[in-house]
Amino acid sequence: MTRHSSLSSTPCGSLKGTFKVPGDKSISHRSLMFGALAVGETRVFGMLEGEDVLATAKAMAALGAKIHRDDDGVWHVEGRGIGGLCEPEDVLDMGNSGTSARLLMGILGSHPITTFMTGDASLRKRPMGRVADPLAEMGAQVSCRSGQRLPLMVRGAATPMPIRYKLPMASAQVKSCILLAGLNTPGETTVIETEHTRDHTELMLRHFGAEVRVVQTKEGRETTIVGQPELVAADVLVPSDPSSAAFPTVAALINPGSELRLPGIGMNPHRNGIYITLKEMGADITLENERTEAGEPVADLVIRASKLKGISVPAERAPSMIDEYPILAVAAAFAEGKTVMHGLGELRVKESDRLSAVANGLKACGVTCEEGEDFLIVEGNGSAPLGGGTITTHFDHRIAMSFLVMGMAAQQKVTVLDAEAIDTSFPGFATLMNGLGAGIS
Ligand code: S3P
Repeated sequence: MTRHSSLSSTPCGSLKGTFKVPGDKSISHRSLMFGALAVGETRVFGMLEGEDVLATAKAMAALGAKIHRDDDGVWHVEGRGIGGLCEPEDVLDMGNSGTSARLLMGILGSHPITTFMTGDASLRKRPMGRVADPLAEMGAQVSCRSGQRLPLMVRGAATPMPIRYKLPMASAQVKSCILLAGLNTPGETTVIETEHTRDHTELMLRHFGAEVRVVQTKEGRETTIVGQPELVAADVLVPSDPSSAAFPTVAALINPGSELRLPGIGMNPHRNGIYITLKEMGADITLENERTEAGEPVADLVIRASKLKGISVPAERAPSMIDEYPILAVAAAFAEGKTVMHGLGELRVKESDRLSAVANGLKACGVTCEEGEDFLIVEGNGSAPLGGGTITTHFDHRIAMSFLVMGMAAQQKVTVLDAEAIDTSFPGFATLMNGLGAGIS
């Protein structure tokens, strides 16, 4: 991957049209992993073909699954069955993708094989102790570089032990890692969370025939996987990604006269915090044709340019919009008044330290903001910020897209560095946005 190529976004007029947002990243990863563990052939419709998901596809193929994409864009995964993965001959490269690395470590933790794993410069900085620790309790051996970083080695347990594990942080990746290790573990493995994170793993495991029980107790939400089921191949329909959809949504809200329709957006209640928040800020967003597709709630979104006002976003909402704070901060820069965002500690360990990357980007565009250890306050005055900044993205796709959206409606163009990072989650972003009237080049 070449680095340092920049993109600039110039103030454009209104955005209009219908826009097919690519498939959900979280669901795409899981469809490949669970398909590889199922017996039979899983077909995946609408899969995100971004670099992160392609890293998962390559890894699952190296572990023995047969994976191919047909001419109609449907992905076919011939699974090995639980416990049936084989030792890869080479190091698995998870690229930029924390979800690939952490979920796969769970699967490997209860397979009696030895695997080496690495990633790009950003992923090699991210903490892996949060998954290595519970996997060690289950009997896996995980040896990481200092600071519990990648590259690392997983030697899966030959006789894994089920655990009951209380999550020390709100993380669907850690929850999923443990549940996936529990798949090839006799008995029942339970994860307890005090904040409800995205539940795509639970929903899709059930879709493939596993028994997943969820109960609410005094300790929190307890999710239990009954070990060693036979997963049966199933078709997966991937909805459009609500996290990716947030970028055109905010672009339409802040460009006067805009009207966009985004069909088939995933509206899982543990992912839709950004839409609730934007509506509280005064956004004109309508949900049409609400329906359920392959177990996931989906709707068509209609977004019209709106006058936004600053609000306080409660910390409890963070798990349902954890990836959306960068673009929310851009919306807040156009709103009238202060937007206060709490509970952002996890943003420090994403593809970049997103809290400081956002704050620095806003300041470079003339926006007043305050960065705290786990909060961000953005002050808008109800008109377009100055813009004109050059943004260091730290190779973080969501920082890149957020500031390109800023440039579409700021007074002066905004330039983002390392814009190729966008391909990890939203290939074709610039072309699609330009098709609606944006000026990204
Ligand atoms: C994801 C969970 C979240 C999110 C990431 C995708 C998943 O990470 O930020 O983009 O697919 O489970 P954390 O579990 O670290 O919060």
